[in-house]
Amino acid sequence: MGTDWAAVRADFPVLRREIDGSPIVYLDSGNTSQKPNQVIDAMRDFQRTAYGPINRSAYRLAAEATDRYEGARSAVARLINAPAADEVVFTKNATEALNLVAGSWGGDNLGEGDVVVLTHMEHHANIVPWQMLAATRGVELRWVPLTDDGQLDLTDLDRLLDGAKAFAFTAMSNVLGTIPPVAKLCEAAHDAGALAIVDACQYVPHNPTDVRAWDADFVAFSAHKMCGPSGIGALWGRMELLDAMPPYLGGGNMIADVRLDGFTPAPVPAKFEAGTPPITEAVGFGAAAEYLESIGMAEIRRHEVELTRYAIDTLKERYGDDITIHGPDNVEVRGGVLSFAFRDIHPHDVSQVLDEKNVCVRAGHHCAKPLMRLLGANATTRASLYLYNDESDIDTLGDALDGATDIFGF
Ligand code: ALA
Repeated sequence: MGTDWAAVRADFPVLRREIDGSPIVYLDSGNTSQKPNQVIDAMRDFQRTAYGPINRSAYRLAAEATDRYEGARSAVARLINAPAADEVVFTKNATEALNLVAGSWGGDNLGEGDVVVLTHMEHHANIVPWQMLAATRGVELRWVPLTDDGQLDLTDLDRLLDGAKAFAFTAMSNVLGTIPPVAKLCEAAHDAGALAIVDACQYVPHNPTDVRAWDADFVAFSAHKMCGPSGIGALWGRMELLDAMPPYLGGGNMIADVRLDGFTPAPVPAKFEAGTPPITEAVGFGAAAEYLESIGMAEIRRHEVELTRYAIDTLKERYGDDITIHGPDNVEVRGGVLSFAFRDIHPHDVSQVLDEKNVCVRAGHHCAKPLMRLLGANATTRASLYLYNDESDIDTLGDALDGATDIFGF
């Protein structure tokens, strides 16, 4: 029997909320996702019954809290098929995970003239940390261009990767929805002697993720986009790389010893988890991973492929040339992130009119300004889908766009 998607939707209490007498249509999950009862309850119950410090105190409550924290790490590791739970480092979010790689691995391994390859569809989180290294270390950045339909143009990939030390790319664009061939890109990076660093922030919440099958070196993602809480994310990395890297932040929890003349770092992952971590949020992250696993990532992907096809077809049928949906039309190579231009109406105006019908979308540059320049736009309106959406949400979006048409007189 297939998944009961109405029952899944019922897991998310905020989706029962009404504003001005009508329900919310939440189409901003690329920005941040809503939370199911399973995550809310896990965090609340932990706070009520088992909250305590981790890794520090000898009493049983603290041991239990430590077990829950480490259990969450195992759940997250399972979701991405990591070879070992200790290869998962908890960070604040994917942005911090990518900064950790650039700052620690990059700081230790990159110097004047070394090359890092990025793509034109990166989020600022996978651009600016490398630009900071370019500014301070003289690292050269090269860029993989895009095809007209918003896929990576890999024609010159070998030349771009020639002599590179790292290839850092998104597994799913937060603007175009494009899903590049991640395993093939990792292989190309390795063939060139470069590390493969994957920003999987938009990918992990929506697709089966197998870091072993990808043969990646580092993979970054955030809990809040995958039904978990904000304030926590993860960096998965190959142990031999993490082991060789210097700590990123210094302080408590990340040391084995501190003397007047220096310190010895703790083993991975504690080496990269300085200070008291977001303990309750880790429990929520683990619960989110288990929740998604209980539905099945392949099933979630299948649902979103169908919904994305329905959304593209419905909006194009309704609005023809008046709507431009960016990114590939082929739903096999894209996720449910639908950035669009609607007539000549500014995206902020579109978003405001949609809000009057309780349709929540994001309007703006989506933290991907180089890509927006390529699209020739300052901003787009973006509807992004998740497991709790259904066709009626798309229909409501379509109806609400009619409202924009009426107001702006087209
Ligand atoms: N990166 C998030 C987005 O695309 C915040 O909306």
